[in-house]
Amino acid sequence: MFDTTNIVVGLEVGTSKVCAVVGELGEDGDLSILGLGQSRSSGVRKGEIVDMEQAELDIRRALQEAEQMANVEVRSVYLAVTGGHIRGFNNCGIHPVQDPEQGVTEEDVLEVMRNARSVNVPAHEEVIHTVRQHFQVDGHGEVREPVGMLGRRLEVSVHVIAGQIDRLRNSIRAVRSVHVNVEEIVFSGLASALAVLSAEEKQEGALVIDMGGGTTDYVVFAGGILRHAGVLAVGGDHVTNDLACALKVSQSRAEQLKVDYGAAFVEDRIRGQTLDLTNYLGMPLRTISLETLRRVMHLRLEETFELVRQQVTAAGLYDSLGAGVVLCGGCARIPQVTALAEQVFDLPVSIGRTQGVSGLKSALDQPEFATGIGLLRFAQQHRVRPVRRSLMRGLADRLKFFIHRG
Ligand SMILES: Nc1ncnc2c1ncn2[C@@H]1O[C@H](COP(=O)(O)OP(=O)(O)OP(=O)(O)O)[C@@H](O)[C@H]1O
Ligand SMILES: [Mg+2]
Repeated sequence: MFDTTNIVVGLEVGTSKVCAVVGELGEDGDLSILGLGQSRSSGVRKGEIVDMEQAELDIRRALQEAEQMANVEVRSVYLAVTGGHIRGFNNCGIHPVQDPEQGVTEEDVLEVMRNARSVNVPAHEEVIHTVRQHFQVDGHGEVREPVGMLGRRLEVSVHVIAGQIDRLRNSIRAVRSVHVNVEEIVFSGLASALAVLSAEEKQEGALVIDMGGGTTDYVVFAGGILRHAGVLAVGGDHVTNDLACALKVSQSRAEQLKVDYGAAFVEDRIRGQTLDLTNYLGMPLRTISLETLRRVMHLRLEETFELVRQQVTAAGLYDSLGAGVVLCGGCARIPQVTALAEQVFDLPVSIGRTQGVSGLKSALDQPEFATGIGLLRFAQQHRVRPVRRSLMRGLADRLKFFIHRG
């Protein structure tokens, strides 16, 4: 029997799949995966719930499977959230030090963080994460730990990740409707980065791109902390759509062709090659061009990487990526996608492997489970134990959450 106070559950209600991961937190930072449940996702578009009933069914299915495998009852989850409405931006807060004679206290730090979190956030948005970048005391320096320093004015620069409150609420509501509580909501891209980046990579600087079915989430870590986050409402489904249009085939056929014959480059050797499509009886239907298939994929993926590169460059972080780029999400399985990313970013690129996790091996080696596993890492780093949060607690309360470190 497990000590259930050490059991945490991550839930991603993604565009392609709903995925629940049950983990056991060990002493000294160990994390063991006990169960994994999956369901095809039919109620989500571009990372956001569009059919509540269907999403509930899929969530129930994934949780049941995970419960059976792990032999635990899931009462609460860390829930991944994404969608084009989620944005990352820099903010800063100012706070007069309460007792300048005594110096900066923990209380002053909490106050200045509170101030930084609420500035410039419109009423229809809710803050998901506030990540401290550095402090200044009386306008001086880039201070990492201000407590104990003498001064009158404490300032903090933060990176805020926020999303539209109603859309975040929809995700929480779908989970609650299956009688499961939400401990915290976590930006999917951040969860993925926590799963695949080592401490060294976070320190040296790395860009993690999670390319899912409906969204491409990205985060930059540098100097050990999260520096920037963003979402493009474009993912593998758009590649499928492009293929369906260009090849004049159905969505399901396009999806199949993408997985079976897709790649991120048009190699010379495949020029002029064709594929024979058959109907459901195996009878010849028509012929399509493999070159066109790959070119369509190349163009969409290249454009997606270019958009991420532009945004990271605009945030002034391109030169901070000493450890390069790490890809995850289902689209990281596309052959030659790392080579394409290397070409666009002009940096070393690798497929993310989950770090320091034991347990179900098959789950750990798939790039699409980075978010689910990263949620457990998040729980490990931020959980206040033992807690059993009330179902009735307000969203605003739940979202008041500071990340001190990545
Ligand atoms: N072998 C493969 N080749 C090409 N594409 C693949 C392959 N395996 C998965 N994909 C694509 O990956 C996408 C699904 O990825 P993933 O499971 O990470 O999405 P998701 O988490 O459900 O969605 P999101 O996070 O965007 O809401 C789909 O577009 C799927 O077609
Ligand atoms: Mg995903």
